[in-house]
Amino acid sequence: MEEPDAAEFPYRKGLQLTIKAHVPPGPFGLGFQQKCVPRPGFTPKYEKKLDWCLKHSPVETEPPENTVVRTLHITEEIACKPYRSAQVVGCYLDGVTERLFVAKIYDALWYNSNTDDVTLCSDSRYSREAAAYEAIQKVRLDGIYSPQYHGSWAFDLPVPGRENLTRPVRMTITEKIDGLSQYDVLNMNLTSRIPPKDRLEILAITAEIWSELEYYGIRHNDMAPRNVMLEELNLKDPAMYKLPKIYLIDFETSHLLYHKDSERRPGLEGSSPRHPKYWLGKYCPEEWLAWVPEPQRSDPDAWKSWVLQLWDDAEYTKVEFLEDSSWKDYKLDSKPESKNAAIPTVESPRAR
Ligand SMILES: Nc1ncnc2c1ncn2[C@@H]1O[C@H](COP(=O)(O)OP(=O)(O)OP(=O)(O)O)[C@@H](O)[C@H]1O
Ligand SMILES: [Mg+2]
Repeated sequence: MEEPDAAEFPYRKGLQLTIKAHVPPGPFGLGFQQKCVPRPGFTPKYEKKLDWCLKHSPVETEPPENTVVRTLHITEEIACKPYRSAQVVGCYLDGVTERLFVAKIYDALWYNSNTDDVTLCSDSRYSREAAAYEAIQKVRLDGIYSPQYHGSWAFDLPVPGRENLTRPVRMTITEKIDGLSQYDVLNMNLTSRIPPKDRLEILAITAEIWSELEYYGIRHNDMAPRNVMLEELNLKDPAMYKLPKIYLIDFETSHLLYHKDSERRPGLEGSSPRHPKYWLGKYCPEEWLAWVPEPQRSDPDAWKSWVLQLWDDAEYTKVEFLEDSSWKDYKLDSKPESKNAAIPTVESPRAR
């Protein structure tokens, strides 16, 4: 299919959009049952991707109970260019410039066309991201391990050159974390400005967040330095440096093990709540090699003993899941004590 002209890419700093609250489709795609896919996948027949997108819009859902309309103003192009996947932009809402948000825009037209049915693909990512953030809200972890969620939204984008024609587009909004991703730190060669023991500590906290979310059936599935945000990381002035607060972002490939439509269940092989060591593995994960100091980086024994001395095995094995719990059966009272520095009331080695 012929991609649209990059010159028509609309998501630029200064763009203003009128957005309406939107009920996302139930999560579908990878990790969810086939019956949840809201329509059959189609093979493109059109020469131009724009025509394909006009013919195959994102799925319609019931309107929300209350119509909420807001004005979004793009202030920053964060991960935003033609032919990537979602467009991630910094923004403010309703003219209030002091409070910044991040909007993740799932516009199939500007996805690259690797997938046949690019609308269904972007919609499924939207559905899973929204469902994961809603799940995080339900278990009252919003803003603790992940940025605060500010809902799912839709807007109608004018089609250039076609008078009065618009296309529906979806987006999610979260608070903007003031900081850098681990990837940014690595990419800007700033890693050495974080003390080696803190780099290990940050990785340990990241692993705990992974495990805590998994405990609630929210399996991230895309653990990578670019999906770990470090808040208030001051690397310019060593005197101002302190251990940052850590958040996981990007839940578009996550699974929800307790969701009624999930294909995977907790307690079954490969999906039980896991000790952080099961994510960290027996060797330093490849994407974190440049992050982890020696000897843990290249000596597997040093790595394993670091991992194992951090957590008591028993603390993780005592966590039990009901195999057939449904979405509603989250047990809020049985949450294991967190060691995460993000929860200030908890005493733990991580919090120090
Ligand atoms: N809430 C946020 N606050 C600050 N920065 C953010 C936030 N959400 C995303 N970002 C930045 O935008 C980047 C892309 O976001 P995200 O990972 O959600 O998009 P993506 O399309 O899934 O990207 P990728 O495929 O590269 O993982 C992140 O790596 C991070 O730098
Ligand atoms: Mg990402």
